[in-house]
Amino acid sequence: MTSFGRVISVRGSQARVGLMAAGQMPLPEVRATVGRFVSIRCTTSVIVAMITEVSCEDLHASDTYVATASVDLLGEILGGARPKFQRGVTNYPTIGDGVELITSEELRTVYAPSGSDQINVGTLQQDPSIIAYVDVEEMLSKHFAVLGSTGVGKSTGVSLLLNEILKSRPSLRIFLLDVHNEYGRCFGERAQVLNPRNLKLPFWLFNFEEIVDVLFGGRPGVPEELDILAEVIPMAKGLYTQYQNSDRVGLGLKRVDPRQVGYTVDTPVPYRLVDLISLIDERMGKLENRSSRIIYHKLISRIDAVRNDPRYAFMFDNANVGGDTMAEVISYLFRLPANGKPMTIMQLAGFPAEVVDSVVSVLCRMAFDFGLWSDGVSPMLFVCEEAHRYASADRNIGFGPTRKAVSRIAKEGRKYGVYLGLITQRPAELDATIISQCNTLFTMRLANDRDQALLRSAVSDAAANLLSFVPSLGTREVLAFGEGVALPTRLRFKEVPPHQLPRGEATIATVPSVTAGHDMHFVSAVLERWRGATSHRDSTANDPGINDRPPPRPMAPAEAPMLQPSLGLDPDRFSLLKKPLR
Ligand SMILES: Nc1ncnc2c1ncn2[C@@H]1O[C@H](COP(=O)(O)OP(=O)(O)OP(=O)(O)O)[C@@H](O)[C@H]1O
Ligand SMILES: [Mg+2]
Repeated sequence: MTSFGRVISVRGSQARVGLMAAGQMPLPEVRATVGRFVSIRCTTSVIVAMITEVSCEDLHASDTYVATASVDLLGEILGGARPKFQRGVTNYPTIGDGVELITSEELRTVYAPSGSDQINVGTLQQDPSIIAYVDVEEMLSKHFAVLGSTGVGKSTGVSLLLNEILKSRPSLRIFLLDVHNEYGRCFGERAQVLNPRNLKLPFWLFNFEEIVDVLFGGRPGVPEELDILAEVIPMAKGLYTQYQNSDRVGLGLKRVDPRQVGYTVDTPVPYRLVDLISLIDERMGKLENRSSRIIYHKLISRIDAVRNDPRYAFMFDNANVGGDTMAEVISYLFRLPANGKPMTIMQLAGFPAEVVDSVVSVLCRMAFDFGLWSDGVSPMLFVCEEAHRYASADRNIGFGPTRKAVSRIAKEGRKYGVYLGLITQRPAELDATIISQCNTLFTMRLANDRDQALLRSAVSDAAANLLSFVPSLGTREVLAFGEGVALPTRLRFKEVPPHQLPRGEATIATVPSVTAGHDMHFVSAVLERWRGATSHRDSTANDPGINDRPPPRPMAPAEAPMLQPSLGLDPDRFSLLKKPLR
C-alpha cells in the first residue's frame, strides 16, 4: 500500500497516472518527479515505467487526485521465485492499477547482470546502491558512442569502459586512436603504445588517394601528376613482384610488361620508390617538348622531398627491407597474436599534421579489410577519439577516404567482427549516418542546442524525454541509451583510479614550466619543436608548383586552433623541452 497514484488512462506504450493529494500519500517523502522510474502493479507482472511529465493542468475537479503524470511503459518484471526483467510490455495496465516509486529491489532486478558478459560502469543516479551494468556483446556488436562537451569526463569514461571490456573480453583486440596522446598510461601492460618513433607503416600500404594525400601535403593533387602516378604505381608493383619471383626461382630478371601482372593502383603489395622514379624518368625521357617535362620533374622532386623528410621516416625508412612485410605489419598493429597485450594505442599527436588523416585512413581501412578477409574470426574494437574530425557531417571538411573507412566499419563492420566506438564533443558535426549506426550512446553534458537536437532524433521517444537533463548533467554523469543498457538510464561513471586517468603528455611536460617561469631555454625549446614541425613546408617552398596549388583542405573551424599546438607536440621532442626545464 505504498501507491502514490493510480492509472487513469492507457494509450499505446504510455499511460496517465492520477497523483494523490499529499494527505493521502502513504509516504510523505514520495516525490513524483520527471525522470524517475515507477512501477505499476498488474496482476501477473510489475510494469516498469518512467515519469516524463507532471502537470495539474486539465485536471477536472477531483477529490482524489491533485495532479497527473505521463509515464512511458518501458518493460516488465515477471514474477516467480526469481523475478526477471524484460524490455517491452506484454501485459498492459488497467484503469485503477496502483503506481509506486520503484523499489531498490525492483531496480536491482532491472539492472541485474543477465549473463557473464556484463561490465560494471558505475551506479544509478536514482539509487547509488545499484550498479549500472552494460551488456558488452550488445554494446560492441552494434557499435557505441560517447558524447559530451569538453571536460565532462569522456576520455576518463573511455578509459573506464575499455578497461572493463579488456577484463571481460580477453580475446577481443582493441585499437584506440589517441588524438591527444593521453591514454598512454591508462591500460598498463595490456596495451602497446605506438607513435611515429616505433610505428612502421610502409608507404606501399597506402592506397592511391592516401599516398596522393601524403605527397601533396593534404592538398588536392595536380591532375597531370596524378595521371602519371596512376599509371606508374601499378607498374612499379608489377616490377617488384617480378623481382621477387625471379629471385625465388633463380632465373634472373626477366622483364615482362609489368602491366600484365594485373595490379591496380590500390592493390596492397609492395613497390619501390626507385622503380617508381625511374618509370617516371623513363616517360619523361621520351618527351620532346621541354615544357611538358616540367610536370614529371615536379612529381619526382615531390616524391624525393617527402621521402627524405625525417618526419615521414615511419613510412619510408626501410620500407622495402624484408620484402613483403604486410603480414608482420598487420600482426604488429592489430596484436595477432596478442601476447598478453590485446590493445594498441595509436598516438597521433606526434605525426606531421598534414599526414594524420591519411595514416588514420590506412589504419581504419586495414582494420576493416582484415576483418572482412578473415571472416571476422578475430574480433576487434576500433575506437576513435574526436570522431567528428574524421567523419564530419560537412563533406568539405576532413579527408574523404577516412570518412569512407569509418563509415564502412559503421555500416558493415559487425558482420566481420569489427566494432566501432566513437567519441566526440560535437555530435552534430559528426556524419549522421555514422552516428545512427551506434546503438549504445553514453551521453554526457551537452550545452549546444544543435547537439541536443541531433540526439533527440537519434534516440527512441521514451529516451528522448531524458534528454532534457543533458545540459544539466554533472561531471561523470551519463545518460546511457540503447542496446547495451536495460533501460535508458541516468548513471554516474565509477571513480577511475589516478593511474588510469587519461592525461595529455603535453600537460605533463609543460606544467613544471609554469611554476619554474618561462625562461629563454623554454622559449628556445618551443621554437625548436615549432620549426621541426614546419620544416617540411619550408623544404618544399622552392618547389615552383607548390604555391600554385589550392590551400590544404579545411579542418573543422573550431579544430584549427586545437590542431595548431599538436603540430609541435611531438613526443620525440618532449625530451628537448623537458631537459632545460627540470
Ligand atoms: N570517472 C571519473 N573518475 C575520476 N575522475 C574523473 C572521472 N571523470 C572525470 N573525471 C575528472 O574530470 C577531468 C576531465 O575529464 P576528461 O578529461 O575525461 O574530460 P573529457 O570530456 O575527455 O574532456 P575533453 O573534451 O577536453 O577531452 C579528469 O581529469 C578527471 O579529473
Ligand atoms: Mg578527452
